[in-house]
Amino acid sequence: MGSEQRVAAETHVLTLPLPFQGHINPMLQFSKRLASKGLKVTPLSFTDKEWTKAAEHGSVNVQIIFDDTLFAEITDQEDTVYINNLYATVKRRLPEVVAKHGESGYPISCLVYDSLMPWALDIAMELGLLGATLFTQSLAVSNIYYEVHQGKLKVPVEKTAVAVEGMPPLEIHDLPSFLFDLENYPLSLKLSASQFSNIGEADWVFFNTFNSLEDEVLNLMARQCAIKPVGPTIPSMYTDNRVKDDKDYGLSLFKPDVESLFKPDVESCMKWLDSREPCSVVYVSFGSLSILGERQMEEIACGLKMSCHYFLWVVRETEKEKFPSRFLDETSEKGLVVTWCPQLEVLAHKSVGCFMTHCGWNSTLEALSMGVPMVAMPQWADQTTNAKFVADVWRVGVRVKVDEEGIVTGKEIELRIREVMEEETAIEIRKNSEKWEKLAKEAVDEDGSSDKNIQEFVAKLICNST
Ligand code: UDX
Repeated sequence: MGSEQRVAAETHVLTLPLPFQGHINPMLQFSKRLASKGLKVTPLSFTDKEWTKAAEHGSVNVQIIFDDTLFAEITDQEDTVYINNLYATVKRRLPEVVAKHGESGYPISCLVYDSLMPWALDIAMELGLLGATLFTQSLAVSNIYYEVHQGKLKVPVEKTAVAVEGMPPLEIHDLPSFLFDLENYPLSLKLSASQFSNIGEADWVFFNTFNSLEDEVLNLMARQCAIKPVGPTIPSMYTDNRVKDDKDYGLSLFKPDVESLFKPDVESCMKWLDSREPCSVVYVSFGSLSILGERQMEEIACGLKMSCHYFLWVVRETEKEKFPSRFLDETSEKGLVVTWCPQLEVLAHKSVGCFMTHCGWNSTLEALSMGVPMVAMPQWADQTTNAKFVADVWRVGVRVKVDEEGIVTGKEIELRIREVMEEETAIEIRKNSEKWEKLAKEAVDEDGSSDKNIQEFVAKLICNST
């Protein structure tokens, strides 16, 4: 090992994701990218769930800092208690972790924390560490929250449309739901705006996005602080053409099946997909948190049936009781329903023709990076804004319309699936999807825009350590 490599391997970074699937995935993947550049990286976990075993397979060792049922079930009303508990845990455990690694000869130089825990920066600074925040939502959405933080955008939004600098015209249903749904989510907006409370003190501000995807908002926000896009934080086995073509997964940054809070049904999904024609399957998933009503489930089932396409539908264990089970008997030839799947592998599979998605930021970036057209059916939070960009800005999919009762009907679902899978519009959408797939890969390839930002970060940390 050369002296430079040795210094890199001794440069030690802690990463701290929020304990939700949509936050663990990008932080863990970013951790592995840093490790692939030679750094020693230790992700910290608030849970002892399955994902911590990534240590056995990957280049990073996850360290559990807390384990309690405290984090099992929360509602928005309890957000403050929950966040206070996270804060107390980090405040208590981080000094111990830092001291222990110092004694073992691998002192910590930097903490990379989820932007929704801005107080982690204060704790890191007290311990003499550098601090880097990672935003796991889009720049566009963050720009809206930043306007709220600055008081430029008044909430609750009561107008039908708003103008936000650097963004296309936004109707109320394009804004993050927290901006007008203050009654149901009183604390979520406060939390989202708080991401900017001490941003000026962070040594680095990272975003899980890439330059060309959000260039206009990036140029605008970069006037306020030095934003560094580092995304899409997807393992190289999916973004590196060489690796994919050779089917040589040796270079992969991690095996995707070990990091879930949920157990994926890998074998049945992949076997079932293998037996389908290219681009013939509609993949349906609403992420790790969304809760659908019983009637909405019925309508989705109905729409899938009427579309006459094959489908792979993820219905989480906690959602299963609302699932119209007779639907499975009627469509057993056409579909597979699982409680969790290896989503990256599914999206990379040639038989998947489109993704009916809630537009969580990870799902959106994953589909975009793998060139899979989308039927956007946003539920809440940032998903509504992501859906706007999917349909109208990047034009890699279509968005469903919600009726007066707040339902997306089966007929609407059938029509939108056909639009993306069959009709003339499908050709343009597929062309756009291929364009963005290429641009996403370029960003994370060696010397691409995101890769350069990561290289710069690593070089500065190593320089600080010598
Ligand atoms: C949440 C929010 O809802 C989202 O809007 C925000 O941007 C991040 O946090 P979630 O709803 O779970 O996340 O959606 P998403 O961001 O798409 O993350 C889900 C992750 O779970 C993705 O990385 C996806 O690949 C993975 N997944 C999902 C699976 O591995 N298997 C599945 O069956 C479904």
